[in-house]
Amino acid sequence: MLHWPYPRWIAHRGAGTLAPENTLAAFRLGASLGWRAFECDVKLSADDVPFLLHDAALDRTTSGRGPAGDRPWHELSQLDAGSWHGRLHAGEPLPTLAAIAAFVLRNRHQLNIEIKPAPGTEQHTGQVVAGHAARLWADQAVPPLLSSFRPEALLGAREAAPRLPRALLLDTPWPDWDQVAASLGCVAIVCHHELIDDGLLARARGAGWRLLAYTVNEPVDAQRLLALGVDGLITDAVDRFSPGGD
Ligand code: G3P
Ligand code: MG
Repeated sequence: MLHWPYPRWIAHRGAGTLAPENTLAAFRLGASLGWRAFECDVKLSADDVPFLLHDAALDRTTSGRGPAGDRPWHELSQLDAGSWHGRLHAGEPLPTLAAIAAFVLRNRHQLNIEIKPAPGTEQHTGQVVAGHAARLWADQAVPPLLSSFRPEALLGAREAAPRLPRALLLDTPWPDWDQVAASLGCVAIVCHHELIDDGLLARARGAGWRLLAYTVNEPVDAQRLLALGVDGLITDAVDRFSPGGD
């Protein structure tokens, strides 16, 4: 197995639920609680600017409405991505990937970039996000880990930045997922935590992959996964778990 430079504990969507997900405020909060590795969701504006947002639509977490990928960055950058969470975060903007990179690189944090394409843009999104990541992390000792549920996005990432590590996300074990992960040159599998058992871990280890779990919010689940020997746990519960140690 390859050397694995990432901490075992990873804060989900910046810092889970205590601040608006996928915003710089969430990263700042997570960092203030001692977190040193973060997952975030990245997609493209209509003019190909990579930015952080989980949903395909703007409605749940911003002041905007409708599909996010239809809007140019100059419009998206004006939206309020904090008020939905609470008045403390009113006016918090959607961050670009570049803005998040500036924060995590300055603080020597590690980043897992989940490529979250708008439907129909999978390969292109993978290409553009990976290309930006390669430039932003040029000369850094530890690259960002690029992950996606969508194999086409990982294919695009490999085309644009073959040296950045890739991971296939699995929410259900669809047919031939392991052959697809192998064909994409993945270094890790990131699984819904309920899928992980001895058999899956052995399968991953047999292929030389690291195995990470999402989204692990209950101590009993974390204990089970740590006892199995998973390599990473992605969690919302940044005030419940301690990211200390490895
Ligand atoms: O990357 C792990 C996890 O974030 C995948 O699920 O829906 O929270 O992006 P989701
Ligand atoms: Mg995600």
